[in-house]
Amino acid sequence: MMKRVLLIMFLFYTLQYQAPVVAFSDPARIELLHRHSPKLNGNARPKTQLERIKDLVHSDMTRQKMISHKRRKACESETSINNTAVEMPLRAGRDYGTGQYFVQFKVGTPPQKFTLIADTSTELTWVDCRYRCGRNCNKENKTTQPQPQPHRRVFNADLSSSFKTLPCLSQMCKVDLMNLFSLARCPTPLNPCAYDYRYVDGSAALGIFANETVTLGLANHRKTKLKNVLIGCSSSFQGQSFANADGVVGLAYHKYSFANKASEKFGGKFSYCLVDHLSHKNVSNYLMFGASKNESLLSGKLRYTKLELGLLSPFYAVNVMGISIGGAMLKIPFTVWDVKSGGGTVVDSGTSLTFLTEAAYKPVMAALELSVSKFERLNLSGLPMEYCFNSTGFEDWLVPKLVFHFADGARFEPHTKSYVIDVADGVKCLGFVSQSWPGISSIGNIMQQNNLWEFDLGKSKLGFAPSTCT
Ligand SMILES: *[C@@H]1O[C@H](CO)[C@@H](O)[C@H](O)[C@H]1NC(C)=O
Ligand SMILES: *[C@@H]1O[C@H](CO)[C@@H](O)[C@H](O)[C@H]1NC(C)=O
Ligand SMILES: *[C@@H]1O[C@H](CO)[C@@H](O)[C@H](O)[C@H]1NC(C)=O
Ligand SMILES: *[C@@H]1O[C@H](CO)[C@@H](O)[C@H](O)[C@H]1NC(C)=O
Ligand SMILES: *[C@@H]1O[C@H](CO)[C@@H](O)[C@H](O)[C@H]1NC(C)=O
Ligand SMILES: *[C@@H]1O[C@H](CO)[C@@H](O)[C@H](O)[C@H]1NC(C)=O
Ligand SMILES: *[C@@H]1O[C@H](CO)[C@@H](O)[C@H](O)[C@H]1NC(C)=O
Repeated sequence: MMKRVLLIMFLFYTLQYQAPVVAFSDPARIELLHRHSPKLNGNARPKTQLERIKDLVHSDMTRQKMISHKRRKACESETSINNTAVEMPLRAGRDYGTGQYFVQFKVGTPPQKFTLIADTSTELTWVDCRYRCGRNCNKENKTTQPQPQPHRRVFNADLSSSFKTLPCLSQMCKVDLMNLFSLARCPTPLNPCAYDYRYVDGSAALGIFANETVTLGLANHRKTKLKNVLIGCSSSFQGQSFANADGVVGLAYHKYSFANKASEKFGGKFSYCLVDHLSHKNVSNYLMFGASKNESLLSGKLRYTKLELGLLSPFYAVNVMGISIGGAMLKIPFTVWDVKSGGGTVVDSGTSLTFLTEAAYKPVMAALELSVSKFERLNLSGLPMEYCFNSTGFEDWLVPKLVFHFADGARFEPHTKSYVIDVADGVKCLGFVSQSWPGISSIGNIMQQNNLWEFDLGKSKLGFAPSTCT
């Protein structure tokens, strides 16, 4: 059961507070830990590989629904502009299938530390938060009392000198944040701009927007501060929330998302590299803002395709135009890849498996099944993966190479282990899931593993290259 599996992944970055603050653009490199990483809450970690896969896949299914739902909402709002009813595109952490990685994040002045889910499909960065009087507080009424839930961390906004609410009468509140569910309510012009996130299951998150300072660790162990980062101060959160997480870091594409804000400071881009989380290797995933110092070593190898920012906003859409297996292009109708026809493809770090709409799924599976048909097929209950087999004697070279072809000619060649995946000792499955039509195909994080992915928001391009992620 998913509810049991509280937390997911943590992204850690190490900060050294004694180090000087620097303003130049050394990259910020943050460790990402997968929610099943042994470095984290070992108890909540599913015991066997099969349980782990089931857990991941379960959140994938919910996440895919969320992506479709959000997409539908976006289409509807394009056609009926006067629809002011807000429906939350997010769902509570475990229901929503929020991403798979955690990060430690420092907010405020002086910094307060939180464990947040890092999600490339969420725009708003928010934390559980208490705000009473902020800058109008005097010494007596600053909220210094113990927090109501000792096991949770709550951002005490009154203790932060950099917490700046946004006036509800401002353009930012009334216009820019409308798609982040800002409320029209504005009793006096200086009241803070508030939000009301409606959850699909009827629960809600209420809070106020603020500009805050976020402290980031740099690759060289120094630290830097990002000022005027939009954060949500969630004062109430109905429904089961995020267990060990204190909120979410929004890495989706949006004018006010953390990804955009941090990228602006670090040369317009962020990147991540995910190691094989099904292996037990001791290496880390990381998220990086700014150019890697070693980019010159990599740049020869990086391939680029257009990042379609705004096309399936806030998701990171790419123009896939075909898939080949063993050098032969599969017969897949173009509508599958065409956003206008109800299709399209996103690169999503928060989905584990790769979802293809039926017209792409069927030919891909047919071609791959052929290559593993001599292995005994196994029937595993509780997995949406259709084809699993006894992998005794299996070698990667038996499976022809699968390649994603982008419209601009770039080719992404995932590692075989990323689509013929280990689910248990001696058992492998073809790592694709069928997505109903119309629908969006998602390139999930297992497909992305052992590659560096560079999201260049400034130049609207996505770079990728095989990497050990070290
Ligand atoms: C909203 O749009 C609907 C049609 O979609 C229209 O009937 C209705 O009058 C509009 N309401 C307002 C307040 O403009
Ligand atoms: C804080 O104290 C000031 C002055 O004592 C008072 O005017 C204000 O209403 C108080 N604010 C809160 C939130 O208690
Ligand atoms: C908040 O930050 C944005 C930039 O992210 C800036 O445009 C805006 O003026 C700031 N508002 C306040 C009240 O600090
Ligand atoms: C694995 O990680 C532990 C601590 O996290 C470290 O002590 C050990 O040296 C690492 N092993 C390898 C092979 O890197
Ligand atoms: C860059 O490469 C050098 C040697 O190739 C390595 O020692 C160093 O750790 C790398 N730096 C980063 C930030 O990856
Ligand atoms: C797998 O099991 C299900 C129910 O247990 C059964 O309906 C289905 O036919 C089985 N498939 C194969 C290929 O054995
Ligand atoms: C796979 O087949 C081998 C013999 O070919 C057998 O020993 C093993 O138990 C099988 N594994 C599974 C998971 O069925």
